[in-house]
Amino acid sequence: MQLIDGKKLANKIHAKVAKEVETLKSEKNITPGLAVILVGDNPASQAYVKMKAKACKEVGFYSIVHEMPESITQDEIIATIEMMNNNPRIDGILVQLPLPKHIDTTKILEVVDPKKDVDGFHPYNVGRMVTGLDSFVACTPLGVMEMFKEYNIELQGKDICVVGASNIVGKPMANLLVNANATVTTTHIYTKDLASHTSKADIVIVGAGVPNLIKKDMVKDGAIVIDIGINKLDSGKLVGDVDFDGVAPKCSFITPVPGGVGPMTIAMLLVNTLKSAKSRGL
Ligand code: GUN
Repeated sequence: MQLIDGKKLANKIHAKVAKEVETLKSEKNITPGLAVILVGDNPASQAYVKMKAKACKEVGFYSIVHEMPESITQDEIIATIEMMNNNPRIDGILVQLPLPKHIDTTKILEVVDPKKDVDGFHPYNVGRMVTGLDSFVACTPLGVMEMFKEYNIELQGKDICVVGASNIVGKPMANLLVNANATVTTTHIYTKDLASHTSKADIVIVGAGVPNLIKKDMVKDGAIVIDIGINKLDSGKLVGDVDFDGVAPKCSFITPVPGGVGPMTIAMLLVNTLKSAKSRGL
């Protein structure tokens, strides 16, 4: 069994981004800029945004976090995004999800300029990604694809089961894998027999948000298991969606939680923001 070290790979990517930022600054006088909108006081969202801002600082980006109270109106959020769309110092705009219930998330995401949509959530980018065109791709599934590349894991012809069908993880993940010529099954909460799908797969990718959802009798020997879940137990312990201790001995590769996919999400946000900065004015 080999661990896929997301922390190590993310650090490598951070260093590469930092170097490119220096070049961009000295040769083109461009400092990549990321704006994050954080609505309300969800502790998990606050923690993620803090990590994103810290990463931006470390690689030399300009970054701002625009915090708004839970009671904010949809129109006020839209006005803020439009201001950011028109701000030439800002290359990437990220609206931290989830948003409060009274806000129409789809509507908000559609206001973000697709050229600054470093989260890859705008329908323009989603459509381009599905058709295999150049686009911004959602950071978590993009990070998983980078892990496959780094560890020379071949995808073509593989049977891959994606557990979870969210717009920000499962659906883009499955589409990227189809584009990589894998045979993909997506399961979700209405799937009748989850184990019958996961146990046939060469690769199982889990982003369901359910601790211990995947147990050892649900994966085949030699499987590759990617755990996208990050769940905080009452004890404060962070765990994924996979029963790591039970499943890991059966795997050829597995990602740990923490230190697996999580750091890759932030690394890909930096990569996407840098990509946007490089195409400034084009
Ligand atoms: N909430 C959970 N994951 C993400 C993410 O990747 N981006 C944003 N904007 N919100 C999230």
